[in-house]
Amino acid sequence: MYQEKAKILWNNRVGNQYYKIGLTCHNGYSDATPGQFIMLHFPGRMSPFLPRPFSIHSIINTGGRAAGIELLYKVVGEGTKMLSEHGKGEVVNILGPLGNGFMSSNHYKRIFIVAGGIGVAPMFFLASYLQTKGTDPFECMVFLGGRSKDDLLCADDFLHMGMKIHVTTDDGSAGDQCFVTHPLETALEMNLPDIIYACGPLDMLKCVAGIAEKHTVPCQVSMETVMACGMGACLGCAVEGKTASGNYMHVCSDGPVFDVRCLKL
Ligand SMILES: Cc1cc2nc3c(=O)[nH]c(=O)nc-3n(C[C@H](O)[C@H](O)[C@H](O)COP(=O)(O)OP(=O)(O)OC[C@H]3O[C@@H](n4cnc5c(N)ncnc54)[C@H](O)[C@@H]3O)c2cc1C
Ligand code: FES
Repeated sequence: MYQEKAKILWNNRVGNQYYKIGLTCHNGYSDATPGQFIMLHFPGRMSPFLPRPFSIHSIINTGGRAAGIELLYKVVGEGTKMLSEHGKGEVVNILGPLGNGFMSSNHYKRIFIVAGGIGVAPMFFLASYLQTKGTDPFECMVFLGGRSKDDLLCADDFLHMGMKIHVTTDDGSAGDQCFVTHPLETALEMNLPDIIYACGPLDMLKCVAGIAEKHTVPCQVSMETVMACGMGACLGCAVEGKTASGNYMHVCSDGPVFDVRCLKL
């Protein structure tokens, strides 16, 4: 884990409320895994008081080592608005990589990735990671959902990686007009995957978890909660675990990626 001042390499608008920001980082990020995140804070500013968590969207490699990370973010409030107003050459404080990422296995040959809205941010890193480290033969299907076409991100990136994608929107402005879990269930009924990975709104994750359970397919989800410290100290990110005692787990230190069998969703 590295606490550092990161220089902004770029901060480009990629959609209505969406931005991609490139940041310099310690070369130890070479070992970061998809699903891990950073806490970002603005130096010398009291507001917003707390750092904000963001998933690693991609690693910027130079000479085989990490020279930077890219984040994909949506402007939703004070912190993300302030971030969007920062430009190349400015500096932010970052702490990371944090948390536990998605677990992969050589046995996973047929993989389903489900991403809802800004939940696509860690899934692009996951898809490229799986493609590099994945087994041969390797088949990855991506289910990409958004409220409207403006909320569908990275579709071309997945296509360029040779992955099959199913696109859905709530308003029908792109792809099929339905929830992303509909084509997921249809595809599962045709041929079961070895694993489902998902990130997106809680209702989507609940539905994906239910589908995975029904078909007895392993499933890992990346959870989002409000976070204050990002490293297990404030206990502000607790979620209920699925044990007889109903113990609580912390999204920042036990997750953000969980096997759905461990969570009470
Ligand atoms: C592990 C993790 C990874 C994340 N990765 C990304 C990412 O890659 N890209 C991205 O755009 N966002 C990501 N988020 C969400 C991001 O941290 C919040 O959108 C951000 O903190 C909002 O800050 P703000 O000051 O702009 O908004 P605030 O003013 O703090 O809040 C604005 C609104 O967003 C809601 N909100 C704030 N934080 C969260 C949250 N964590 N989950 C759900 N709703 C929230 C608030 O309740 C409020 O309604 C991630 C969150 C977690 C926990
Ligand atoms: S954010 Fe502080 S314990 Fe998780």
